[in-house]
Amino acid sequence: MFLLFGKAGQVGWELQRALAPLGELVALDHDSTELHGNFAQPEALAQTVRTVRPQLIVNAAAHTAVDKAESEPDLARAINATAPGVLAREAAALGATLVHYSTDYVFDGSGTHARDEQAATNPLSIYGATKLEGEQLVQASGCRHLIFRTSWVYAARGGNFAKTMLRLAAERDALNVIDDQIGAPTGAELLADVTAHAVQALAQRPDLFGLYHLVAGGETSWYAYARHVIEWARANGRPIKVAPEAIRPIPTSAYPTPAARPLNSRLSTAKLQQAFGLRLPAWEQGVERMLQELG
Ligand SMILES: NC(=O)c1ccc[n+]([C@@H]2O[C@H](COP(=O)([O-])OP(=O)(O)OC[C@H]3O[C@@H](n4cnc5c(N)ncnc54)[C@H](OP(=O)(O)O)[C@@H]3O)[C@@H](O)[C@H]2O)c1
Repeated sequence: MFLLFGKAGQVGWELQRALAPLGELVALDHDSTELHGNFAQPEALAQTVRTVRPQLIVNAAAHTAVDKAESEPDLARAINATAPGVLAREAAALGATLVHYSTDYVFDGSGTHARDEQAATNPLSIYGATKLEGEQLVQASGCRHLIFRTSWVYAARGGNFAKTMLRLAAERDALNVIDDQIGAPTGAELLADVTAHAVQALAQRPDLFGLYHLVAGGETSWYAYARHVIEWARANGRPIKVAPEAIRPIPTSAYPTPAARPLNSRLSTAKLQQAFGLRLPAWEQGVERMLQELG
C-alpha cells in the first residue's frame, strides 16, 4: 500500500498517475475526511499512517506560497517541517520508505556554479528555512527516504508562469521580466516519473536512499523562459500582441517581493543521473509539451 499526501498539488496530481501502476494507492489532501491529511495539524497525520500502514509514503504537500510564508511563519513551519518530521518518524516506526520534496531555496543563490547535494545551505526566506528544517527532520528520523530538491516547478493543470506570460503577451504591448535569476523550469510530470522510477530502483538497491537534486536539463532566466514561451506561441499561430523587442529584461531589484529569492538556482543532477541511470531532458522539451497540451 502507498500513501500519497498533497494529491491535488502540481506534483501530487502527476504522482497519482505515475504511482498507480506500482501498487494500491491511498491519496489524500487537506480536505480529506475519512483519513486526516491536513499538514497544519502535524500530529494528527500520525494516526493516518498508523491506520493505512503503507510501505511507501510520498509527501507532495507543502506551503509553497513563498511570499505569504513571510507573514505566516508558524503555519509554514508546521506544514514544511513539523509535518514531514512526523511522517518520517512514523515511517521509521513502520519500516516504511518516505519520499519528500525540497527546493533550491535552501540555498542563498550566490555565485554562478551548479550546486551539488553537499553544498552549504543558507536559506534567504521563511519558505527556504522551513523546507530545510523539513529535510533535516526526515534525515534525522532514521527512516529510509528519498528527498528530491527541485526548482521552478510547473504543470499543465492550474496556473503557471508560462500561462501567465501567454495571457499578458496577448493583452499587452510591453512586458518586463526578471533576467538575473537563473534556474531550470521542471515539469511536475518529470518529477513524478522520476519518483516512480526511483521508488522501483530503491526496492532492488536500498543503498540508493538519500538526498538528490532533480531538475530538468539546461538553464535559463525568467526573461529567456518568457521569450521562449512567447516565441513558441507566435510561431504556432497563438494570439500574441507584444513585439519581441518589447519583452524587456529587468533585475530582481526592480521587482521587490516580501521573500528574497536566490539568484543562482543552478542544481547539479549528476548524482541522481548516475545513481538511477537516468538522463534528464532539456527544460524546453517539457515546457513545449505543456504548451502543446494547452491547445
Ligand atoms: N512550485 C515550485 O516552483 C517548487 C519549487 C521547488 C520545490 N518545490 C517543492 O515541490 C513539492 C511540490 O510542490 P508543488 O509545486 O506541487 O506545490 P503545490 O502545487 O503548491 O502543491 C502543494 C500542495 O500542498 C497542499 N497543501 C497546502 N497546505 C496544506 C495543508 N495544510 N495540508 C495538506 N496539504 C496542504 C496544497 O493544497 P492547496 O493548493 O489547496 O493549498 C497543494 O495541493 C513541494 O515540496 C515544494 O516545496 C516546488
